Amino acid sequence: MSFPSERPRRLRQSAAWRRLVRETELAPRHLILPLFVIEGRDRALPVPSMPGVSQLSIDRAVAEAQAAARDGVAGVLLFGVPDTKDPLGESAADPDGLVPRAVRAIKAAVPELLVWTDVCLCGATDHGHCGHVDANGKVLNDVSLGTLARTAVAHAAAGADAVAPSDMMDGRVGAIRQALDARGLQDVPIVAYAVKYASALYGPFREAAHSAPAFGDRRAYQMDAANAREALREIRLDIEEGADVVMVKPAGACLDIIHRIRQQTDLPVAAYQVSGEYSLIKAAAAVGWVDERAVALEALTGIRRAGADIIITYFARNVAAWQRGDHP
Ligand code: PBG
Ligand code: ZN
Repeated sequence: MSFPSERPRRLRQSAAWRRLVRETELAPRHLILPLFVIEGRDRALPVPSMPGVSQLSIDRAVAEAQAAARDGVAGVLLFGVPDTKDPLGESAADPDGLVPRAVRAIKAAVPELLVWTDVCLCGATDHGHCGHVDANGKVLNDVSLGTLARTAVAHAAAGADAVAPSDMMDGRVGAIRQALDARGLQDVPIVAYAVKYASALYGPFREAAHSAPAFGDRRAYQMDAANAREALREIRLDIEEGADVVMVKPAGACLDIIHRIRQQTDLPVAAYQVSGEYSLIKAAAAVGWVDERAVALEALTGIRRAGADIIITYFARNVAAWQRGDHP
């Protein structure tokens, strides 16, 4: 059977039909909003390369989290941007550091909202790498695991609903799982940035998080964008080490990877629509070349269609507003 008896357009002819046969749903309940937290009170510092995104003091982050919860967004992902940096990134692991304090404040104000924390050292190290470095600038794997595990414990002890290690050191999911379990935090899930490519699309984030490497790049620990089999291997290892959710990042350039991982595991799959993906849409929309709402919703729907259960996106609150019909 084919044309003229088969006519796919029959099911596209009205909004009512299109709504009925739509296969992929994109809703605020699938979305996690990243927040950049800074010291101080009543501070919101706009991030120039990410229009609509600001670094927020804890009180302002609480207000943003409340608004996200009202929008029906599933949760927030916290990034600390501490004032003090040192070679080992010790402030990341401080139980009274920026992120633990922000976790406590947000959980107290909006207990129903999920609060995830990014676990990495690059925001706290003076060299901007995601682990410890030796005298030659080599990023060291095994000695970094202790600080990462202590960082995760600090976040989880403060009440985080999940810790999300983004450093790409080998063995960190296992090290974090062991450290959490040893402190009675066995119920705190690990969202592993399992497949994280060394992407040029993280540029705006590094401005927002003050985490650009002072020398070199991250290619000796983040993945080569040319590799797909290696992604399956990273996923397998993180699952063996105890990951509860696996994440792929960036999202838009890795739809094939999201799709393959969806086939490979029955764990929830998350995808991170990263800063550069956001800023590209914002910039083109600002000069009138594309329609921000339409392009953002299409990109996010594509990520869901590829197989992501969860999307981390700076557009999370916009999606809610667009779907309500308000145009911010
Ligand atoms: C830190 C981290 C990065 C992102 C999330 N966690 C930056 C990096 O690896 O350099 C990128 C997020 C984004 O671009 O939105 N390890
Ligand atoms: Zn990092």
